Amino acid sequence: MDRIRIVGGRKLNGTIPISGAKNAALPLMIASLLTEETLILDNVPRLADVAQLERILGNHGVDIMVSGKRPGETADNGQTLHISAARIVDTTAPYELVSKMRASFWVLAPLVARMGDARVSMPGGCAIGTRPVDLLIMAVERLGATIDIEGGYVVARAPKGLRGSEIVFPKVTVSGTHTAVMAATLAKGTTVIENAAREPEIVDVADCLNKMGAHISGAGTRQIVIEGVAKLRGARHAVLPDRIETGTYAMAAAMTGGDVFLQNGRPELLQAALDVLVSAGVIVTPTNQGIRIVRNGAGLAPVDVTTAPFPEFPTDLQAQLMALMSCARGTSHITETIFENRFMHVGELTRLGARIQLEGERATIEGVPHLKGAPVMATDLRASVSLVIAALAAEGETTVNRVYHLDRGFERLEDKLGRCGAAIERLSG
Ligand code: UD1
Repeated sequence: MDRIRIVGGRKLNGTIPISGAKNAALPLMIASLLTEETLILDNVPRLADVAQLERILGNHGVDIMVSGKRPGETADNGQTLHISAARIVDTTAPYELVSKMRASFWVLAPLVARMGDARVSMPGGCAIGTRPVDLLIMAVERLGATIDIEGGYVVARAPKGLRGSEIVFPKVTVSGTHTAVMAATLAKGTTVIENAAREPEIVDVADCLNKMGAHISGAGTRQIVIEGVAKLRGARHAVLPDRIETGTYAMAAAMTGGDVFLQNGRPELLQAALDVLVSAGVIVTPTNQGIRIVRNGAGLAPVDVTTAPFPEFPTDLQAQLMALMSCARGTSHITETIFENRFMHVGELTRLGARIQLEGERATIEGVPHLKGAPVMATDLRASVSLVIAALAAEGETTVNRVYHLDRGFERLEDKLGRCGAAIERLSG
C-alpha cells in the first residue's frame, strides 16, 4: 500500500490549481441514469471515487467514454466524461459495489424514477458514525414508491411512475436532497422540498438537470420546487470547483506560512471557512481567478468554530482546521454537529504532538509551538488530509499510511503541494 512521506518545515509558495468538486461530480454522474441521451461532464476530477462510480454505473449498463487530453491541456484540466445510459440492463446495485462507496446508494432515485424499480444494497458500516439512509428512503416513498427491505436491499417500486408531492426533511441532508430532486424530475406533477440542503453541489446538480430539461427552481434555498417532466435529454455541464479542496489548501498554506494562489477557487463557496482563517490572522484575498492566501511570520490566533450545514462551516473541513489550530497561540474549540465519531484524526494528531481534549462533540485544542513528525494513519478522507497539513509544519519526517483514503478525494495531492515547495513524496508498496 502506498504511503506519503513528508519532511515538515517548508513554507508553501506558488499556485495550486483547484479541481472539480468530488461531491458534485458523483451525483452528476448518477444523474446520467435519468436520460437515455448522452450527458457530457467536463472538469471531472481524476479520483478513485470517480473511477469506482464508473464501475458501479457500468454494472447498470451505462457506457462511459473518457476524452483524452486535447492539445495544450495539462493534468490541471479535469477529464471529460461522455456518459450514456441509453440502455439500463440491471436495476440492482449489489452490496459488493455499494459497500465500497456510500454515494452509490444514490442510484436508487434515478433508477426508480426512470425504470419503475430499483434494488439497492444498504450501504453498511461507515467509519464516520452511523450515517443512516432513512431520509433518502422517505423521499422516494413520499413520491409514491413502495419500499421493502429484502435481504439487506432496499427495493423501491413505482411501476406507474412517481407522483409529485411535498417532502419535508426533519434535518438538513445533502444525500436526501439529491435523492428527492433527482426522483422528482421525472415524477408526475409538482414536488415541493422543504428544509432542503443549500450546499453548492445541490445547486450544481440542479443546474445540470435543468440543462437536461428538468424544471427545478429554488436550488440553494431551503425550498426547492420541481415540476416533473416526462423525459430528460442529454446536456453538457462543467463540474464546479471543489470548495473542500480549496479550503484544505488554504489551511495548508496558513499552517506553513507563505503565499499561495488557489487558482479557480471560488470564495463564495467557502466564505465561512475563509472568515475563520481571517479571524486566525491569515490574509485572504479573493480575485476573479481564485483566492490568494498569505501568512507571513505572524502567529495564528485561536478560533471557536461549530460545523453546520452550508453556508456555515463545513464538517468536511473540520479535521483540517483542527490540525491548523494545533499550532495556534492559545486554546481553540471545535464542535462537530453533523457526524458523530468524526474525530478519528484526534488520536493521530496527538501522536504528532498536538494537545486535544475531546468531550462529546466538542474538541478543545491547546496550541503548541511545534509538532513533531511521526508515522501516522487515518481511516477517512478528511482525517488523512488533516495529517498531511500537520506534517507540513511538523519538525522532521512524517509518513502517512493508507494513502488510498487521500486518493479517493484529492487529485494529485503530492504533486500540487510539491510544486509549492513542500518536501512530499509518495512511496509505493
Ligand atoms: C455529504 C457529503 C459529505 C459531507 C456531508 C455533509 C457527498 C458525496 N458527501 O454526505 O462529504 O460531509 O454531505 O455536508 O456529497 N442523515 C440521516 N438520515 C439520512 C441521511 C442523512 O439521519 O437518511 C443524517 C446524517 O447522519 C448526518 C446528516 O443527516 O448527521 C447529514 O448527512 P448528509 O448531508 O446526508 O451527508 P451525506 O450526503 O452522506
